Amino acid sequence: MNSLKIIVGLAVLSLPLVSAAERETIDFNGGWKFARFGAMPDGSQLAEPAGLEKPSADVSAWRILDLPHDWGIEGPFRAELENRTGKLPWAGIGWYRKTFEVEALGKRVFVEFDGAMSNSQVWLNGEYVGEWPYGYASFQFELTPFLQQGENVLAVRLDNKERSSRWYPGGGIYRNVRLVKTAATRVAHWGTFVTTPEVPTTSASVHIQTTLDGAVEGTEVRHEILETGSNGSGTDCTLTVKSPKLWDLQSPNLYTLETTVLQNGEVVDREQTVFGIRTIEFTTDRGFLLNGKTVVMNGVCQHHDLGPLGTAINTRALERQIEILKEMGCNAIRTSHNPPAPEFLELCDRMGILVQVEAFDAWKASKTPNDYSLHFTEWHERDLRAMVRRDRNHPSVVMWSTGNEVREQGNAAGIKISQQLTDIIKSEDITRPVTAGCNNYRAGFNGFEQTVDVFGYNYKAKQNAKYYKQFLQKHPDIPLYGSETASTVSSRGEYFFPFSEDKSKGSGGYFQVSSYDFTAPSWAYRPDVEFEALDRYPKIFGEFVWTGFDYIGEPTPYNKDSTNLLNFTDPKQRARMKAELEKLGGDIPPRSSYFGIVDLCGFPKDRYFLYQARWRPDLPMAHILPHWNWPERVGEVTPVHVYTSGDEAEVFLNGKSLGRKKKGLYEYRLRWDDVLYQPGELKVIAYKNGKPWAEDVMPTAGDAAKLSLSADRSEIAADGRDLSFITVQISDQDGQLVPRSHNEVAFTIEGPGKIVAVGNGNPVSHEPFQASRRKAFNGLCLVVVQSVKGEAGIIRLTASSDGLIGRTVEIKTLKSAN
Ligand code: GAL
Repeated sequence: MNSLKIIVGLAVLSLPLVSAAERETIDFNGGWKFARFGAMPDGSQLAEPAGLEKPSADVSAWRILDLPHDWGIEGPFRAELENRTGKLPWAGIGWYRKTFEVEALGKRVFVEFDGAMSNSQVWLNGEYVGEWPYGYASFQFELTPFLQQGENVLAVRLDNKERSSRWYPGGGIYRNVRLVKTAATRVAHWGTFVTTPEVPTTSASVHIQTTLDGAVEGTEVRHEILETGSNGSGTDCTLTVKSPKLWDLQSPNLYTLETTVLQNGEVVDREQTVFGIRTIEFTTDRGFLLNGKTVVMNGVCQHHDLGPLGTAINTRALERQIEILKEMGCNAIRTSHNPPAPEFLELCDRMGILVQVEAFDAWKASKTPNDYSLHFTEWHERDLRAMVRRDRNHPSVVMWSTGNEVREQGNAAGIKISQQLTDIIKSEDITRPVTAGCNNYRAGFNGFEQTVDVFGYNYKAKQNAKYYKQFLQKHPDIPLYGSETASTVSSRGEYFFPFSEDKSKGSGGYFQVSSYDFTAPSWAYRPDVEFEALDRYPKIFGEFVWTGFDYIGEPTPYNKDSTNLLNFTDPKQRARMKAELEKLGGDIPPRSSYFGIVDLCGFPKDRYFLYQARWRPDLPMAHILPHWNWPERVGEVTPVHVYTSGDEAEVFLNGKSLGRKKKGLYEYRLRWDDVLYQPGELKVIAYKNGKPWAEDVMPTAGDAAKLSLSADRSEIAADGRDLSFITVQISDQDGQLVPRSHNEVAFTIEGPGKIVAVGNGNPVSHEPFQASRRKAFNGLCLVVVQSVKGEAGIIRLTASSDGLIGRTVEIKTLKSAN
């Protein structure tokens, strides 16, 4: 960076008008050419020709597409591919090329990638520009030296190695790309850092630190907080906001800082930074404090895929995920196990969600042969700095995590690495604590715990939370939380009998898991176990459940890998699974997780209501399970369970009381385990403090008669990105969900929209996600419709299914006001 002399003491109220010299940010997602080489989607191999970066290379046969793009989600599912990464063809080589015109040289030009999976290499006009291996990192390259007047060709090569991930990573330039043009002097990439060190209620001080790139004599920096008009100058500057509107979870107020760079009085760069005014503190006695008040973290871990849409970033799809999680009472998300898309954090800022941003799933020691361990030594510092610099202005971000269950937790070398990583983060941001997710109990006692500010234990509520207890006793000075909890598994709408409390049981059907919410792999446990631990040890500041949404890959307990059979501790279950696997010759079909509280399509499983009951105690709610369509079980024991935010409930079968039950200490669900099935109607009336509080009814449904459609939004923007998620329900003639129906539904669309994905939440299905038909899974499927850029009008989506009355929904697409 060039040296900088700051001119101080200038009047700041009359900034010059926008000048032609200011930065220009251009959406660079449109009109790319794309081709795959190496491992092809159909399993064949295609040799990669040399010289594809050269402008003269023949790319006439390549596909034309817009970014963001995930080549893996296009499929097909292939039986012989790994279960743990979703049986999708994401591995292989991909090339993207974009031709663009430059009218005049003279400006500095940068290309910004929010993320490309993976091992990116970039060329401009055949000249090598740079590389960035980590598929979850954001990076910027300067193109200026390679740019020419007239036509330019940007080429990007990506290379996804097999066995480089423990979940579905996706493939391609799956996040946004921008071109940024600036003057010679500019605010450096991620060069603004806003902190709010003090927040008295009457006024807040806002500290701004600016890093410049290309500064020379006569360079000056001015700041203005737009909403309040507060302003000042300098690369280190403190402004005051009177009567600040604080950022909190109920009112996530935001401010915009405008930074202006002047050169001899003329504006050369201007940049806006959104920030929030808030304080955070992690204590050992009052938990996590936001603006001085305790907030229990009711968190979930999330992987980055968007279900049937794959990993290609879409703001509305992310927003919908957060809406569904918030409705459950979730107030915190851990971006397991990698930095998220920037849009995710913008949404969390706006929607009032606390975020832990995590850097890595592996350090030097690998978990899969081609994972980040290959790059750790050379790249960890750059990746960590990129993560912190990009995200440190988001009020939603409250913790940095250096890693998840890294294999080095137990040894001295790992403790040293952990300290180094913490130091790197601290050198960029001292306002947030550093943490790591530890599954090895030793990490709480071997010195590793001293290398982080707040300590996260994964799966330690079991055995009466003995490690939580020991940690709290030994470390009264280190805040503790459950960085990964529960890992209960279930399939939406599946129930197997006889019901058992044994966590190793509950598998049944065709690779499904019972939704009575007791089943979990050996290291894990049902949600109630964590609830009890948190209630017994209220100093623990919260939990992050594994996971909010189902994700593609890691279909435990059906992973096929060596741990699969071990997930069943019950010998009978194990024998049954072994026989089933042998019959299939090893290539078993499951391809997405069972861990989600919500399924891959965003449909809540039963567990959703168990968490809602705890996380939203003031919301009157009751949820009864299972469904009540068991013609083959008349007279047989069919347990009925209720999740409620009340403290007591009475269940009725066909109007007859089955008894009133009250939650005991450390009891989180109410159970009627000896109910004999009779068709008709189950009903629950829940009570709180003796007064009626909430009801739920579960009738026996009739035969499938019609389709019911509901769009999450009936008006969307005609911007070519916005989405409407349409839930299709197989209904009886009264409109009641037919819970065990699997009818296939076909879709047609008219008007300015297209079908971009279909799904049903069944972790075993190999039907393509990009199609115009889908089987329902236990009565539901999903179709996702996208607008067409610049075309306003009415989209008509029609669903039909053999023997059922079909339906059409209309969605309006609107041009934005400008
Ligand atoms: C944890 C791990 C997660 C996921 C989970 C499944 O140990 O950190 O990434 O694999 O197990 O239960």
